[in-house]
Amino acid sequence: MYRNTYVEINEENIKHNVQEIKKKYPNYTYYMGVVKGNAYAHGSYIVTSMKEAGINYFATSSLEEAIEVRKYDKDTPILCLEPIPPKYIEDILRYKVTVTIDSLELAKEYSALKFKGKLKIHLKLDTGMNRLGVKTANEVQKIFSLFTDNHSFVIEGIYTHMATTGINDFYFDRQVNKFLELTKKIDLKQIPIVHLGRSLTLVNHPKLDFVTGIRLGIILYGMNGSTPLPTGVKGFLREMKRKHFLKKYHVSPTTRQNDLKLKTGFAVYTEVMNVKRVKKGETIGYGAYFIAKKEMMIAILPIGYADGMHKNLKYVSIHGEKRPIIDVCMDMTIVEVSTKVQRHDKVEIFGNTISIKEASRNMGENAYHLFMRMTTRVPRVYQDKTEVKY
Ligand SMILES: Cc1ncc(COP(=O)(O)O)c(C=O)c1O
Repeated sequence: MYRNTYVEINEENIKHNVQEIKKKYPNYTYYMGVVKGNAYAHGSYIVTSMKEAGINYFATSSLEEAIEVRKYDKDTPILCLEPIPPKYIEDILRYKVTVTIDSLELAKEYSALKFKGKLKIHLKLDTGMNRLGVKTANEVQKIFSLFTDNHSFVIEGIYTHMATTGINDFYFDRQVNKFLELTKKIDLKQIPIVHLGRSLTLVNHPKLDFVTGIRLGIILYGMNGSTPLPTGVKGFLREMKRKHFLKKYHVSPTTRQNDLKLKTGFAVYTEVMNVKRVKKGETIGYGAYFIAKKEMMIAILPIGYADGMHKNLKYVSIHGEKRPIIDVCMDMTIVEVSTKVQRHDKVEIFGNTISIKEASRNMGENAYHLFMRMTTRVPRVYQDKTEVKY
């Protein structure tokens, strides 16, 4: 690392999250770690910690991502969530990737393949998102019969993706019913891994009897999705109203509260590259938009929008104090500082003093987007001192 700008990944915190989730929600057999998007920007290296803590399946979105995970984990099964063209069968087998079958057309293409070995497949059903997946029970049945007597394939899983996680969740019920309708012509019990939900399905809805797996994304990275109720009479009345609503509209039980104690493990740091005294009336940065109203000290930081930095973050933290951002260029950021600040002082962009929640709020985006905004130009540094450049 030649430039002291990096994302510090706290593996212990991610491990803690896995353990905490498994402790509070112990009745799933398969805890799938969703590590697409370079493990939500934490870097695929984090799979080693997730596995150590109890994740027993991974999910990526592409074959490329699965191959990246294989650099760090040789054996844990990996489900590729998007369909892979069958022409890549050699790599699929070499890297031991489980394939998603999302249409009858793709099922026909795969079932016609001749290869040595066994390929694990998961069938994806579209129960309401209109993204990927099969939409009729007849197609589901046809796909099953295509693979059932073909010894090159194992139908290991079946799944869908939930559009919502909300409190008055009609859509959840609708999707579950659709899932049951789509699978009525097959025997679900024959399929080891039935996985419908994602992070907030886990915490907002009780486990369904026929479900054996859960896909965990954002929750692994520290967001528990809990919305605390107000305390006292207000909270009591709110809860009563919610119960009445669920009963009246026959909505299955949900909760927006949980006592999962999760920790984020993603903090962005840089350092002070230079400090400058600016006189009243001088301009700072591009466009000469910022005019100093008084004499002031500024610091130049080696992080810019090519790294994912953004002016809407509002401030950075130096010596535990928030300092306003004046301008963000492609590679550098200028902030107002006090006279105490010196070259090489450590600067936090967010993740510690400025929490992920606070930074997301300032950006007007959720934690998914906040993590992903830090580009691969910024190395990920792990507690064990491993530094990974992506
Ligand atoms: C198919 C699928 N499953 C699971 C997830 C994980 O979602 P979450 O981060 O909400 O847990 C995603 C993320 O977008 C997804 O696309």
